Amino acid sequence: MKRVILILFLAVMGCSPDSPSSGRTVFVNSCASCHGVSGLGDGPRANGLKVQPADLTKIAARRNGLWPMVEVMSIINGYHRRTLQREEMPIFGDLAEGKLVLFDAGDGRLTPTPVKLIAVARYLESIQNPKAIGTFP
Ligand code: HEC
Repeated sequence: MKRVILILFLAVMGCSPDSPSSGRTVFVNSCASCHGVSGLGDGPRANGLKVQPADLTKIAARRNGLWPMVEVMSIINGYHRRTLQREEMPIFGDLAEGKLVLFDAGDGRLTPTPVKLIAVARYLESIQNPKAIGTFP
């Protein structure tokens, strides 16, 4: 009985809306066409693009090993678009729809943040190769 409860508990944890595994579902549905199912930038649509989709397992490696959680969320929903030119990377405004949860971006303040955006960013963090050695403050 204890084991069943434990398994149920783990299943619920694994499926919570802001978990990396929920983020994987978003990723496969919205991002894999360009970035590839493994995030390496080799999706079926990559060939037709002027700018090649980034290898998303190397986001931290491109930033001295640090994981840029807030920047990644901004890239996905377009907040940084005005300062950072990114060609061919669409803005996913719809990921900002739905449930908001309080999220500490590192400044100690809890900001209501779209749960799907957190989930997909956490999923990307989980596929960093090599793993990030720290996070941006
Ligand atoms: C139509 C193709 C396409 C789709 C779909 C797409 N991307 Fe991209 N993405 C790109 C391209 C091309 C780049 C590189 C552009 C650049 O950096 O100028 C990029 C860059 C990125 C970067 C920046 C990487 C870095 O190190 O700076 C992130 C993060 C990213 N994509 C995440 C996502 C996520 C998450 C999704 C799904 C919600 C997604 N992308 C869907 C084409 C796409």
